[in-house]
Amino acid sequence: MAAVYAVGVGPGDPELLTRKAERILRSVDVILAPVSNPSDASVALGTIREFIDESRQEIIVHQFPMTSNQALLIPAWQGAAELIATHAEAGRSVAFITIGDPLFYSTFIYLQRLLREQWPQIPIEIIPGISSINAAAAEAALPLVEGDEKMVVIPATAGIERIKAALETYETVVLLKVKPLFGAIIQLLRTTGREQRTVFVERVGSPRQKVLTDFGEIAAHSPDYLSLLIIKSAP
Ligand SMILES: C[S@@+](CC[C@H](N)C(=O)[O-])C[C@H]1O[C@@H](n2cnc3c(N)ncnc32)[C@H](O)[C@@H]1O
Repeated sequence: MAAVYAVGVGPGDPELLTRKAERILRSVDVILAPVSNPSDASVALGTIREFIDESRQEIIVHQFPMTSNQALLIPAWQGAAELIATHAEAGRSVAFITIGDPLFYSTFIYLQRLLREQWPQIPIEIIPGISSINAAAAEAALPLVEGDEKMVVIPATAGIERIKAALETYETVVLLKVKPLFGAIIQLLRTTGREQRTVFVERVGSPRQKVLTDFGEIAAHSPDYLSLLIIKSAP
């Protein structure tokens, strides 16, 4: 029985991988990389290319559709869990790689549940990664919270009312998955007077990184999936 590792590879910059992540990625037999669309490259895999040896290690790209439809997601999670378990039971160590941190809004959370339920004998080790939020704050040189301040993280898909309530309660609001509701969020930030208190960060840690602080530029931008907003309370 070999071990299974969930390896957080950070936001996209290979230099933001931990030394432990690098050591494990160099040592495992199999690397399983998630992709949401078969025609897209895996961001996690792109981040670790320089650390792996494709002549010695097996690289598997597994599709997890970008949907909240459980009828599509559950078979994808189950398929990945079976793949991981088959390799581990055959004595091949497996690393499931994930952008950012594996326990922070990551597919690995669902895989871990299935593995623990169905293959409790397989040892799992989780290697934390630098989350997109920490990397974004660093690039913007923006303190996330200080002193007694409180912060909340909301996937914007939770809806505009949840975001509105959060803006009234927390000194810092971080919105992930902003793409689908971007227009409504911009409108809300205008009506709540947050134009000067908002930072937009896209593809942090990659050559396509964008950090925008000018609200006009933020509002005119068409974000991609890998983007987030950090909103501070009005002074
Ligand atoms: C499913 S969550 C994954 C979070 C990830 N596990 C982490 O620790 O950062 C996906 C969301 O995280 C944010 N995200 C992930 N990587 C990013 C990046 N490189 N730049 C900006 N936002 C990113 C985006 O809001 C995206 O919609």
